Amino acid sequence: MFKHAQLESVKAWIGNPAHGALPLHVRIQRAIRQLILDGALDVGKPLPASRALAKSLGVSRDTVELSYGQLHAEGFIERRVGSGSFVSERAQRLPERGTLLPKGEEHKAALRLSSRGNAMFQGGGVRDFLAPRPFAPGVPETRSFPLQIWERLHRQVLKEYGALALLHSPPQGMEPLRKAIADYINLERGAQATAERVLVLTSSQQALTLCANVLLDAGDRIFIEDPVYHGARKAFDAAGLECVPVPLDADGLRVEHLSEAARAIFLTPSHQFPTGAALALDRRLAIIEWARQHQSWIIEDDYDSEFHYEGKPTACVQGLDPYERTIYIGTFTKSLFPGLRIGYMVLPPPLVAPMTVARTLLDGHSAPIPQLTLARFIEGGHFGAHVRTMRAVYAERRNVLARLIRQHLADFVEPRIPAGGMQMPCLFIRDIPEHEAVESARREGIDLLGLTALHASSRHHAGFLMGFAAHAPYELEIAVKKLANVLRALCC
Ligand SMILES: Cc1ncc(COP(=O)(O)O)c(C=O)c1O
Repeated sequence: MFKHAQLESVKAWIGNPAHGALPLHVRIQRAIRQLILDGALDVGKPLPASRALAKSLGVSRDTVELSYGQLHAEGFIERRVGSGSFVSERAQRLPERGTLLPKGEEHKAALRLSSRGNAMFQGGGVRDFLAPRPFAPGVPETRSFPLQIWERLHRQVLKEYGALALLHSPPQGMEPLRKAIADYINLERGAQATAERVLVLTSSQQALTLCANVLLDAGDRIFIEDPVYHGARKAFDAAGLECVPVPLDADGLRVEHLSEAARAIFLTPSHQFPTGAALALDRRLAIIEWARQHQSWIIEDDYDSEFHYEGKPTACVQGLDPYERTIYIGTFTKSLFPGLRIGYMVLPPPLVAPMTVARTLLDGHSAPIPQLTLARFIEGGHFGAHVRTMRAVYAERRNVLARLIRQHLADFVEPRIPAGGMQMPCLFIRDIPEHEAVESARREGIDLLGLTALHASSRHHAGFLMGFAAHAPYELEIAVKKLANVLRALCC
């Protein structure tokens, strides 16, 4: 028989609501297994007869028989006809809880990570804003997405490809999508792309991680913008790279600071994250020349260039680079919807094979059905139409937010009205603690991204980024008024 405490422990395990989804016989089996693993039942110790245990637990004998059968199959108990069930010899070989490590050390040991793992964990990763609350930066409006068109194209894909659409995609991506992407960015971004040079990925974040690990070794130097996109910084830090911040001005990165060599440079040239500056053409050419001289890579993150409100954006660096030192990164997270999980790189030809092989180690490939649906969405002109519609919507929202800030927040911040993109940097003009402002706003249902964490140097203006794309003017107005109350309370 079990001792009283052992029986109580089995009952407690079975009754624990956290285990409620498991069938009863599995709960009994797990509870007894736990007693064995904890060393509470010695080897050779007889277990209660199934009838007796069934009675003590108030369950049927069949249920206990099923549990014992499973414990036997897993090698935890032996069953001898006529004499009952016993904790098996083999269970003795299981390391007893608490014997390998002094008490209290177990938890720490479970968290013994590699230094790479620690760097990733300490960096906190890149958490996207899930439910788009005002003013989560970089989140597009998804409520007006043409779902009927998407659904029709999705059905067409399933009908035409049938079971073939259910198989693996080539790791480089489906040919129709690679071609559609190449045609689109050649036309709209002045890129030099071909389907053969496009690698379809799940996100630009994946592209950044691949670049950090495939092109550079730990300890290698990479120039980054200061301030910089946190997702890039975290990918580079996790790979152990030495990030060297380069200051910016209104024309983007100050190229005179690129005197030394580095293995790579990371840029958001069409719309610097977070300042919104566009990198001037002469600076783009200077960076290309620097990369040629030092045989360095240019990592160009063109994350939201579709949304430019004052004329066309400058051609991308990749299209201007005759030496093929540039890796162009694009994403559909902003231009379509974040749940799509499709991004891509346009690679110099010698990098296509190494990058494709490296991505097979991360996730194999991107899902074929969304790739094929997206290819049709682009080829059919729906992507262009959607971007045009959203560009007008976002331009209006940007103007509305600028007006609302002037009306309600003028005592606290100065907005930097961007020529493109989905977010507006706002700099404090009073002594307001940035972290407290972000936290108090969050408690009121408002998401802001503080600027300080994006800066390497301590000489910068505190403030926050306000995303304006995902909310209609009336929603922006309600949220701005709420934010005014939050900031007012912090100033008093
Ligand atoms: C500069 C920049 N690059 C990349 C991304 C993320 O794109 P993805 O969802 O494809 O990783 C963002 C999103 O906020 C961004 O701001």
